[in-house]
Amino acid sequence: MSLTSGLVLPRTGRKIRNRMVLAAMTNKQSFDDGTLSDEEINWLLRRAEGGFGIITTAASHVSQCGKSWEGEMGVWGDHQLRKLTELASGIRQRGSIGLVQIFHGGLRAPRSLTSKQPVSASINLEKGVEEESRELSDSEIENLIQDFGNAAKRCEQAGFEGVEIHGAHGYLISQFLGKKTNRRKDRWGGELIDRSLFLRKIVECVRKNTSEEFLICVRISPEHDVGITIDESLGLSELLVEMNIDILHISCWDIFSSASDDLDSKRTITRRFSEILQNRIPLLTTGSIWNEEDGDFALSEGADLVGVARVAIAHPDWANKIGKSDYSPIKPPFTPEHLMDVELSPIFIDYMRRWKGFVTDGK
Ligand SMILES: Cc1cc2nc3c(=O)[nH]c(=O)nc-3n(C[C@H](O)[C@H](O)[C@H](O)COP(=O)(O)O)c2cc1C
Repeated sequence: MSLTSGLVLPRTGRKIRNRMVLAAMTNKQSFDDGTLSDEEINWLLRRAEGGFGIITTAASHVSQCGKSWEGEMGVWGDHQLRKLTELASGIRQRGSIGLVQIFHGGLRAPRSLTSKQPVSASINLEKGVEEESRELSDSEIENLIQDFGNAAKRCEQAGFEGVEIHGAHGYLISQFLGKKTNRRKDRWGGELIDRSLFLRKIVECVRKNTSEEFLICVRISPEHDVGITIDESLGLSELLVEMNIDILHISCWDIFSSASDDLDSKRTITRRFSEILQNRIPLLTTGSIWNEEDGDFALSEGADLVGVARVAIAHPDWANKIGKSDYSPIKPPFTPEHLMDVELSPIFIDYMRRWKGFVTDGK
């Protein structure tokens, strides 16, 4: 098996042209009402043209109260459909599979953007947020689950082949999964089985609101400060296998490292998930992959699909070039001129200046 070999997704029989996935990347280029701009569409279509098997959009809020930053893509209203349809058909025409990453910011959706107090599983506060969240009521949770379902339905209507449910990185779904951020005493809190109810109900609702062929990928953080441990994440993966999701995506940040309970043994996080999954559902892993050797390592650790983010910003044809002899994508920092040439708008370049060492005149 190599990065360039195709993969047939077991539940639907849908074929992916290769193992390379453009991971979700926020790029701040959408309009205030969540509608996609031409710049955001161009950035993604350029990567579809560059050969990626799957193109994932930036994190997109499913309800207005879930918006976490300016320029964020939204999938909560029909006014967003026209540009979503343009993006979905462009991705399809270029031979990639398009997934919209759907999410809600929870504690990290500030009042300055939503005009409402942030909501979460419990009353929470973390560094960098404007104010404390309030605890969601039972009926509000049910409504939010429905928002995810409606958003997925809208994505299918626009022509996307699936969604990636963003359960990683400390946003609302993570806040439910985490022991520290979910201290509820009702059916949404308690043991892992209860704390994962919100995510599992979202998966169910997306399934109910979309056709049989519609793909559901779930992205999780194997470990996170909200109170998510590797053991529980492995347990969660079992629950997701039972739900027959199409792809499990683990966000490792660094695929070469081990989990914090296992620092001596050199067993990577990807290896631990692949041992549990036993090929029952495809595993996608992402984090610090820059070249073919890195990608091959991820596959050798048991991943079926390999995600990249930063390298694809600077190298839109990465997927097409992998497998060709002597391809060695150059590393950051990149000049703003180079980034303009690869379809990044000034807004996106400015955002990338905040990522340490990425842009020559950035942080
Ligand atoms: C500019 C930028 C924006 C990102 N936005 C998102 C996002 O919207 N959703 C998400 O799940 N991850 C996001 N990530 C994380 C990436 O998907 C990826 O997991 C991470 O960058 C590690 O992969 P890499 O080493 O290939 O860059 C973002 C990363 C970058 C660099």
